[in-house]
Amino acid sequence: MAQQVNDEYELTNERIRERMDKIGRKIMVMSGKGGVGKTTVTVNLANELADMGCRVGVLDTDLHGPNVAKMFGVEGESLSSNDGVSFLPVKVRDNLFVISLSFALEDPDAPVIWRGSMKMGAIRQFLADVEWGELDYLLIDTPPGTGDEQLTVCQSIPELTGTIIVTTPQDVAILDARRSVNFSRKLGVAIIGVIENMSGLICPECGTEIPIFGKGGGKRMCQDMHVPFLGEVPMEMDLRVAEDEGKDWSHVGASHPSQKALREIANEINNGTACSTSRDTSFLGTPSCKPSACATCTSNCPSRKKNNG
Ligand SMILES: Nc1ncnc2c1ncn2[C@@H]1O[C@H](COP(=O)(O)OP(=O)(O)OP(=O)(O)O)[C@@H](O)[C@H]1O
Ligand SMILES: [Mg+2]
Repeated sequence: MAQQVNDEYELTNERIRERMDKIGRKIMVMSGKGGVGKTTVTVNLANELADMGCRVGVLDTDLHGPNVAKMFGVEGESLSSNDGVSFLPVKVRDNLFVISLSFALEDPDAPVIWRGSMKMGAIRQFLADVEWGELDYLLIDTPPGTGDEQLTVCQSIPELTGTIIVTTPQDVAILDARRSVNFSRKLGVAIIGVIENMSGLICPECGTEIPIFGKGGGKRMCQDMHVPFLGEVPMEMDLRVAEDEGKDWSHVGASHPSQKALREIANEINNGTACSTSRDTSFLGTPSCKPSACATCTSNCPSRKKNNG
């Protein structure tokens, strides 16, 4: 019996490897604290990368609170299959696809009451059985914390490119973000960088920035822990409305500071241009959709050493 379980586990690993081999960069978006904007960041980076011509997949591993489909405006779609074995992801745009447990739920209000082993099984099935085809990016949205979901992703995809850690600026969020940094290190996963979301509220009336959660906490943590900082995304009421309505924010234009920031971060990730002694995304290598490798980073870069051992 134990042997049979082991064989099935290995067979699933084999299927995951085959799927993942067709995908360029596999990035897990995580945070210690809930509600800091992981899903918002994931969805927006996906749209920005798709705008750049990349072929992008988004995997929603937040099984208890799957919000990705709503933010992409594809809520209510259901899963389909060509062969009755594997699933086809739901198409958001010609080069952007998504998979979420929400597509398999008949009642969107029904709670998913699952223990760890069931969550692990569902995530591994998504990794093994979704027909993404060739992708430049797979962005994996996770629930808050450093538990079953994050562990399953990291252990099931040994060649995971890295993690993006989302935090808000205030101390209680930073405390939890530090745990995400240490989680990545303990599992030997590279840290692509930290994003400070909700970094100031842009007043919808006058455009003044109000530091509602403070500002700069994410960058200070990065300096202290020697991890790359990817940028600050301010809070904008219109962005929240766009997410609620499932509208693509990437086309609203750079007059919206949050869109400008998200585009810059996506560019930085895709081009690997942020390389310096304090910021190193060069380990990402040359992106398949927009070649522009970082030429300046050396193996002496402290960030590379910290991340890659
Ligand atoms: N920069 C922003 N400006 C305006 N609203 C934002 C911003 N970032 C996130 N939000 C809003 O804040 C709420 C929480 O964001 P989101 O769901 O992305 O957080 P999360 O970290 O994924 O939450 P959870 O931990 O529950 O998964 C959402 O309504 C979202 O639209
Ligand atoms: Mg979320």
